[in-house]
Amino acid sequence: MKGIILHGGSGTRLRPITYSDVKQLLTIAGKPTSEYALLDMLRTGIREVAIVIGNVGAEEVKRYYGDGSRWNCSIRYIYQEKPLGIAHAIGLCRNFVGDDRFVVYLGDNVMQDHLDESRKEFEEGKYDAYLMLVNVRNPEKFGVCEISDNRIISLEEKPKNPKSNLAVSGIYFLTPLVFRYIDMLKPSGRGEYEIMEALQLLLEKGGKIGYRIIRGWFKDTGTVRDFLECNRLILENLEDDSDPSMLNYSGRIHIGSNTKIDGNTKILGPCFIGDNVDIQDSYIGPYTTIGNDCRIRGTEIENSVIMDHCSIDFLDGRIIFESIIGPNCTISSGYSKTRRTSIIAGRDSRMDI
Ligand code: TTP
Repeated sequence: MKGIILHGGSGTRLRPITYSDVKQLLTIAGKPTSEYALLDMLRTGIREVAIVIGNVGAEEVKRYYGDGSRWNCSIRYIYQEKPLGIAHAIGLCRNFVGDDRFVVYLGDNVMQDHLDESRKEFEEGKYDAYLMLVNVRNPEKFGVCEISDNRIISLEEKPKNPKSNLAVSGIYFLTPLVFRYIDMLKPSGRGEYEIMEALQLLLEKGGKIGYRIIRGWFKDTGTVRDFLECNRLILENLEDDSDPSMLNYSGRIHIGSNTKIDGNTKILGPCFIGDNVDIQDSYIGPYTTIGNDCRIRGTEIENSVIMDHCSIDFLDGRIIFESIIGPNCTISSGYSKTRRTSIIAGRDSRMDI
């Protein structure tokens, strides 16, 4: 079996961060979201992976994943010139796929569950496709499945009267048969080639589609809110590897190598703090990820993701909360007396607040 990770798209909902950075490379607890997908593929034994890259950040993606040897797999890159839809991105991979079965993982989707059992069922059940489903409260906003006899019998995109609460996630097990239906697609109302339509055609032609309801949580990290929620969920399961003798620390905490934290700083986990970080006179509160090479002074941070190479210097102890601060940002203290500050900042931002 082969794996495909989608790394294209426009990421409009995560702007301004996605003007300069590709959303699937944004890190949570030390790893880009798409690396969680790759690790899950490796866990099921997949060793040949293609990454579909788009216009934003293609070189960064190649630099990060290289030829895959760091993960003991082979990674090939397939360029999608325009974000013409998930089905279009998958369609570009047909030479890579050949005659094999494959799994597609949207690089900004993260789940607590794993692929292994689904892979087994997909292969043993000789399904033409196999979908990972999520129980949602608002099915009218998703692609929704109707189920009978352990098979999906209908698929509807954003139905007015949903036949179930089961939405299709961004993880699809497929066979090369899907290319036949992708070739038949026309752009949808939003100008994209829709994978849901290809799957509907497959069903109409008698294709057999199996499913699994994802165990535990699932997140599409395409919005600020969902990205921060995913950070919280990942940190909930963080392993505590901090020094138990540190009285200023409580909860599950990861502290990277060469990181210096002074005695005036309090840390309340779950928190992930990267390598070469320097923190003084601060409070790092629950659900905070701090990337590598950051410098933090006199600041309180909670429920936020701070990317690599940031410098935050708030001398009057203000609270940063529910924030995503892109790589290489500098934030320092201005004249405002506002105590709580929420910031969504793209790469290289400079702020005096
Ligand atoms: P979406 O989140 O649906 O689209 P997007 O990434 O363009 O974001 P937004 O809606 O905020 O503008 O995409 C789902 C996943 O599929 C995501 O990982 C990007 C990937 N994708 C491609 O690789 N190629 C494409 O043409 C599209 C539309 C998405």
